[in-house]
Amino acid sequence: DKKELGLTPPMGWNSWNTFTWDINEQLIREAADTLVAEGYKDAGYDYIVIDDCWSLKERDGEGKLVVDPLKFPNGMKALAEYIHFKGLKFGMYSCVGTHTCAGYPGSFEHEFQDAESLAEWGVDFLKYDYCFKPRHMSGELLYKRMSLALKNCGRDILFSACNWGEDNVYHWIRESGAHMYRSTGDIQDSWDSIKSLALSQLDKACYTGAYCHNDLDMLVVGMYGGSNSDFIGSQVGGCSDVEYKTHFSLWSMMGSPLMIGSDVRKANQATRNILMNRDLIAINQDVEGRGAYRIKPEPQWFHGDDVFMLVKVLTGGDLAIGFFNLSDGQREMSLQFWDFGLPYASGKSLSLYDCWEHQEIGVFRERYAPVVPAHDCLIVRAKLV
Ligand code: GLA
Repeated sequence: DKKELGLTPPMGWNSWNTFTWDINEQLIREAADTLVAEGYKDAGYDYIVIDDCWSLKERDGEGKLVVDPLKFPNGMKALAEYIHFKGLKFGMYSCVGTHTCAGYPGSFEHEFQDAESLAEWGVDFLKYDYCFKPRHMSGELLYKRMSLALKNCGRDILFSACNWGEDNVYHWIRESGAHMYRSTGDIQDSWDSIKSLALSQLDKACYTGAYCHNDLDMLVVGMYGGSNSDFIGSQVGGCSDVEYKTHFSLWSMMGSPLMIGSDVRKANQATRNILMNRDLIAINQDVEGRGAYRIKPEPQWFHGDDVFMLVKVLTGGDLAIGFFNLSDGQREMSLQFWDFGLPYASGKSLSLYDCWEHQEIGVFRERYAPVVPAHDCLIVRAKLV
């Protein structure tokens, strides 16, 4: 059942959030083993992505990128074979500039050559970062260039553009051929970071969809402050399970790619329950890939911007509705069905199913008003009856 490249938001694991520069072959193999053994692959997570810091600091005599032999003694081809043997796909990382963000060689003026190396190694996914871009070059042009190189390298390679929402990315990224694009700066393992990333993209529902997904950055679910990098993890101390649940719900509802950034080998049960919530994943992976639009709860004047509902129209006519309370106090969130196109006069009711409790809630006419605790959410799947 080969899915078309990038049709639904890509799912997988990425080394950066937890391991940053401290990566090696053994770790990557163990992450792959874990995705298969613990059920992540069956839930849809199929990309294993090595982020920055995998190469030597210099290209070779022919200008090719050289894999760091201490970190990856058997080379990328063997690693790709291992990952493919597990039924997974293999992702790597480079950058539009002369250097990557961590100072390794970038692909500037080597785009077609590097795309060939990736194809030769058996790579299926490229994350393409935005550091050290020569001043006189346009970012838009450089993403278009790598996209073209990938599409002509002889292998299906998913293109993950990472320019942090700069250069009006919304206005050219889909046309460039990229399958996903970062619209924000880097996530941190903190509630403030999760909240501000999500709020910044709420009005961008029209800029995501099938084949080109707005990427809110890798998930921090299950990190609990554990990272090699002070910037991402240990300085900010992590989140509670409720906050991770809300983070995952926002990313799922908003159609973001779902790239796990925690150490999957050490995940506890709470983390696994969040990351492998099939009801949420089904919403995220809906093939029509429609963005989620925002509705304010009634009375609108009473609630700030951090209390809102998201509505996502699903294939076949069901709705996914998220009640998000990102504020610091409990809220009653009143949703008038009129507000998303279901007037009382239609004679229709909604049958609601709770996607976290995995059970039916009941049938409602005209209005539904759950009480949602601080930093929490309720995600329902609604059927017209
Ligand atoms: C940038 C990206 C991150 C990560 C690092 C690697 O900051 O936004 O996701 O790839 O570079 O250096």
